[in-house]
Amino acid sequence: MPEASALPIATASRRLSVAPMMDWTDRHYRRFIRLLAPRALLYTEMVVADAILRGDRARLLDFDAAEQPLALQLGGSVPSTLAAAARIGEDWGHAEINLNVGCPSERVQSATFGACLMARPALVAECVAAMRAAVRIPVTVKCRIGIDDEDRYEFLEAFVDAVAATGCDTFIVHARKAILAGLTPRQNRDIPPLRYETVYRLKAARPALSIIINGGIRDEPAVSRHLQHVDGVMVGREAYHHPYFMAALDRLAWPDPVAPAPEPAELVEALRPYVERSLARGERLHAITRHVLGLYAHRPGARAFRRVISELAPAPGAGFAVLEAAVAAAEGRPRFRLSARAGPDGGDLMTSRI
Ligand SMILES: Cc1cc2nc3c(=O)[nH]c(=O)nc-3n(C[C@H](O)[C@H](O)[C@H](O)COP(=O)(O)O)c2cc1C
Repeated sequence: MPEASALPIATASRRLSVAPMMDWTDRHYRRFIRLLAPRALLYTEMVVADAILRGDRARLLDFDAAEQPLALQLGGSVPSTLAAAARIGEDWGHAEINLNVGCPSERVQSATFGACLMARPALVAECVAAMRAAVRIPVTVKCRIGIDDEDRYEFLEAFVDAVAATGCDTFIVHARKAILAGLTPRQNRDIPPLRYETVYRLKAARPALSIIINGGIRDEPAVSRHLQHVDGVMVGREAYHHPYFMAALDRLAWPDPVAPAPEPAELVEALRPYVERSLARGERLHAITRHVLGLYAHRPGARAFRRVISELAPAPGAGFAVLEAAVAAAEGRPRFRLSARAGPDGGDLMTSRI
């Protein structure tokens, strides 16, 4: 069942968002990054629309109330299926529905969704129109600047115009084209060159649209520059590998004050109730801690933190004590001795102070 009703997205400016990333931006990562970026818009991993209709909805859609504002990204290209999935997402409490028109994987192409849909603007428009008719929350599109040889600016503008004609007013544009054959999805995130100017040009030509830029954003000066040209920035890999980057950006994107970001030890403590609730639900500790490995990135202790987590979190019965031990190791406080045996209640690793 949904844990929260959606916040009106108007209150959640799109100046900063964390990109949808399969296998990475699951509910555990989102709950964690929310502690550092209190105002950023978060996205789910891509969820195939058909799976929502036929599959385990709670597993696909559940989230923690603190993750809001949260957008659900859908993959699909059948208007009626997308519309039904969008409706379910809205009822579940998501604040926005986003259509994936940027993923170049072969599996996604064979199902005719993702980036290959940029060649079918009329179909995307039909999909978006059907979704918009089904929900009251915003429907947005995430796309590339082009695909294969279609990399002229006019191609992007024509695509956006066709979709915007349905009333969709927000486009997240990954500023590199996708090569649909010959490159893996991973190569497609690195090899085609970034062309930020193309995205700036789109915003200048269509000022009424909300244009969010994505791709290769890794430092604060770049974010300040982008925000002079477009309405928002979306950050993917850097947000995952270096979570404190999002803390800095949250405070850069909005001038109004917010509490200072918690230090890593405070953050881990703030996560405790969530971790304990999740473990009580039957989740494995590792499913959560795999997303926090970058907590000490660019700080002393990073390696010690990762080592303790990697060695101890996968053990059956591992509990919150592993996180405490990892923080102690990172901060040079070897106050815990850990034994990889299950505790007397079978539920936790034994820890003893030394
Ligand atoms: C592991 C991984 C999974 C991704 N999965 C998705 C996805 O499900 N949907 C999507 O639209 N983009 C996906 N992307 C692309 C990102 O949303 C983003 O567009 C891309 O990584 C470029 O941004 P960055 O340079 O800030 O990482 C994925 C990227 C990564 C690294």
